[in-house]
Parts: sequence; structure tokens; C-alpha cells
Amino acid sequence: MVLSQSARNGIDMPLVGFGTFQLSTAQAEYSVKEALRAGFRHIDSSEAYNNEEGTGKGIKAAGVSRNEIYVTTKLFPGPSKNYKQTIETLKTQLKQLQLDYVDLYLIHAPISDLRLEQWSALMELRKLGLAKHIGVSNYNIDTIKEILAADLAKPEANQVEFHPICAQADLTVYMKENAIAPIAYSSLAPLSTWRVEKGQGGEVLAEIKEECQVITKEIAAKLKVSEARLLLRWGLQHGYGVLTKSSKAERIRENLDLFDFEIPEIEMNRLNKLDQNQALAWASAGLNPMQAPPLKH
Ligand SMILES: NC(=O)c1ccc[n+]([C@@H]2O[C@H](COP(=O)([O-])OP(=O)(O)OC[C@H]3O[C@@H](n4cnc5c(N)ncnc54)[C@H](OP(=O)(O)O)[C@@H]3O)[C@@H](O)[C@H]2O)c1
Repeated sequence: MVLSQSARNGIDMPLVGFGTFQLSTAQAEYSVKEALRAGFRHIDSSEAYNNEEGTGKGIKAAGVSRNEIYVTTKLFPGPSKNYKQTIETLKTQLKQLQLDYVDLYLIHAPISDLRLEQWSALMELRKLGLAKHIGVSNYNIDTIKEILAADLAKPEANQVEFHPICAQADLTVYMKENAIAPIAYSSLAPLSTWRVEKGQGGEVLAEIKEECQVITKEIAAKLKVSEARLLLRWGLQHGYGVLTKSSKAERIRENLDLFDFEIPEIEMNRLNKLDQNQALAWASAGLNPMQAPPLKH
């Protein structure tokens, strides 16, 4: 695929999305509007972010027509949201987002023993036209295979933590072989500027990032790009769609500026060697979102 700002992957998704985690409702409204005005055409939300009303207002205020924008949101699966509750959840989210449909609906993580029932509900939501595409997030090979073994539809996408310290080696190959669109979150987790505000949890596991920070800085200087742009471009060159969040207008614009440079293979390989298979995004909550409980029978 040719990498360009207008390029879309197999599920019609613009390759760079604007994330809305850790934004208040008011910040979501401001940032989503800024992001759309800066040229983002893909917004990533979730029931769990508690700010969908702000995201909806931001979309409306930007004045971009609906069919130009790709909106993803996620079901928070809770310990045991059932089929009916899953259907109702998206309907409530659509009201908050002030939308008639989302482009992509995901199960946020495989943390419920009712996850197959939830997945059947997502299949129904697609049939009803309330979600154009459906997928999962934080699923590993085993939890994807569980869906296929139950003879249910294949997820169209899987959104996972992906950056040089957490490169999801086997899963990335598996998703490519099975045509499941890979979407990266927390691409900027290796940086010292990631989640620095009180309560955001960026300080956890800081020591394991040191080597990555040195190499990232060196390569970014060589290519004359910022470290954030380098890490986002690394995700794109691995075939992932990437998500990035900022509450600041200048950074929002910077994070979309990924298409006028390329990371040479030699530098890609240096970054690839930094993999420690270590996730950081949920670590401050002491959680591993890929850990699934046994299914309820
Ligand atoms: N499915 C899941 O389980 C899951 C988990 C995590 C995230 N996500 C999604 O993925 C999105 C992105 O992940 P993330 O929130 O971890 O965001 P990220 O884009 O990887 O990092 C955001 C952090 O980096 C800072 N930052 C942003 N742009 C920067 C730049 N150009 N230079 C330096 N620092 C910069 C931000 O600070 P400022 O805001 O102060 O600029 C913020 O602290 C989320 O918003 C969410 O939509 C999904």
C-alpha cells in the first residue's frame, strides 16, 4: 500500500487516527474539532473514555461531512455484558456521539467470559447497519481463534499496543496472514513526554524505555523529524494504522505529518531490535488487557 494521508486500509480506514483517551469531555470537544480541522479523518473513541458527548460535539463543530469521517468506538465489555446489553450500549453511544452509525465497532478487550456472546451482538449490529465494520481490541492469537472455532464471523480489525518495545511479533504475522487489519495504540509510549500529567500513569516502567529513547532520539535527529513522528511512521511502515492523542493543537498537527519522509530499512531494523514484548499502556492499572478469563459455558 502506498503511504499517503488519503490512503485507507482494507476496511476503508484512514491510516492515521486521532485518539481520545484521557481527555475530559470539554477537552475531547476541543481536540476532536482541532484534529478534524488539521486534517484527521479518523477518530478513535470508547465507551470507557467517558467523553463521547464531547467527541460528538467536536465532530459536529468541525463541520466536516459525515461520510468523510471514519469513527471507531468500543464496547466496554464489563465483567459480563450480555447480548442485549451490548446492542443497547452501542445505541446509547450513538446518541452521545450524535451519529447514526459508527464505521468500526470493537470489543475493547477480551476480559469478559461472555465475549463470544458479545461478538455475536457485534455481528448483529453490523447487520443492522449501526456499525459498518466490526473488530476486536487487545485480542491475541488464542482469543481470535476462539471466535473462529465457534464458527462466528472473523474480526475485521484488531487494535493493540504496538511500538518498538511492544512489537507483537507473532500476532502481527498472524493478522497479516488472516487479513485482519492491524491498528496500533500508544505508539508514543516509549517517549519521556508520554502521559506525564498527574494520574496518567506514564511513569510506570520508565527504566525499560531508556535504550529505546536513546536510539529514537538519534534516528530522529538523523532524519530531521521529531521522535513522535518517527515512532508513528514506524507503525505505518509495519502495515499498521496508527492512533495518536494530544490535547495540544501544535502536537495534533505534528502527529499527522507522517507522509513526507521514510525510515530507511537499516534504521527500521535498529528500532525492531528494541522489542521486549512489554506492554505499557494498561500497566499503571496493573492490568494485562490480553489476559482472558475462561469462557462461560
Ligand atoms: N484499545 C485500547 O486498549 C487502547 C489503549 C490505549 C489507547 N488507545 C487508543 O489509542 C489512542 C492513542 O494512545 P495514547 O492515548 O496512549 O496516545 P499516544 O498518542 O501514544 O500518546 C499520547 C501522549 O503523548 C503525548 N504526545 C502526543 N503527541 C506528542 C508529540 N508530538 N510529542 C510529544 N509528546 C506527545 C500526549 O501528551 P499531550 O496530550 O499533553 O500532548 C500524551 O501524554 C488513545 O487515545 C485511544 O484512542 C486504545
